[in-house]
Amino acid sequence: MTLSATSVSWAAGGIEILTDVSLTVETGEFLGIIGPNGSGKTSLMSLLAGIRTPKSGSVLLDGAPIASLGRRTVAQRLAFVEQQSETVERITARQAVELGRTPYLGALSPWSLEDDRIVDGALDSVDMGHLAARSWHTLSGGERQRLHIARALAQQPEILLLDEPTNHLDIGHQISLLDLVHQQNLTVIAALHDLNHAALFCDRIAVMQEGRLVALGEPRDVLTEERIRTVFGVDVEIEQDDGGICHIRFLTRRAQRPAPEGQRRNLSLMGA
Ligand SMILES: Nc1ncnc2c1ncn2[C@@H]1O[C@H](COP(=O)(O)OP(=O)(O)OP(=O)(O)O)[C@@H](O)[C@H]1O
Ligand SMILES: [Mg+2]
Repeated sequence: MTLSATSVSWAAGGIEILTDVSLTVETGEFLGIIGPNGSGKTSLMSLLAGIRTPKSGSVLLDGAPIASLGRRTVAQRLAFVEQQSETVERITARQAVELGRTPYLGALSPWSLEDDRIVDGALDSVDMGHLAARSWHTLSGGERQRLHIARALAQQPEILLLDEPTNHLDIGHQISLLDLVHQQNLTVIAALHDLNHAALFCDRIAVMQEGRLVALGEPRDVLTEERIRTVFGVDVEIEQDDGGICHIRFLTRRAQRPAPEGQRRNLSLMGA
């Protein structure tokens, strides 16, 4: 299953927000989208998910314009976890995940034990099985975020679009969630803010800047000190480990400032 955008542009409020973006997601790859706030990551993902229509250009899902496919067909192939997804209804954690089965239900295919099994599996995979009976509105931000992922997994898509999936999560759950997503046999497109996570988990990275795709490639080629300075305006040092994984160190003003006199003395006593 392939998903591709060809020369897509999108405008809102009379302002062009995305300009001439083309990319194809390969089957089974983990594609990261990085870029500063407002650079167009969410807008691009909305076009790729078919919930917005490009002003020009096209989005194709398996060669067919996504706009020509029915909602149900798209939802069986592609799940989108939005950046600000909220559920207002009074439902339990489990019911929130059960919503992921909607594209498969109908008069001739009622809820079955298989649906129960899939929902249980999705809850367990994000470590939320023990909170299944809890009311949604009593859950923490991170617990809700994990349920959104579980709902998307219960949808059993081939393509998973995740807009800042680790937002709200503690570092342990950030890593385990990216690990979990990575281990699924899925095509993943994820907007990520943590560049080290992008380096660690992505097969390729797309870099957005002011509504344009300015780089696309493997992390080691895309994540350069020069590009991070140009796109994000921060100075970094990048080391590659033996496995070719980039490790990005941010050079804050604090790090660049000479250490206070007392600390310098201590450092020199320690042989530094
Ligand atoms: N419906 C809209 N009407 C007007 N402007 C919009 C609309 N949607 C998005 N924009 C603007 O388009 C730009 C890109 O927004 P988008 O949400 O795609 O950025 P982003 O890269 O996802 O940012 P963030 O990292 O903050 O999530 C922003 O300047 C935003 O204000
Ligand atoms: Mg966004």
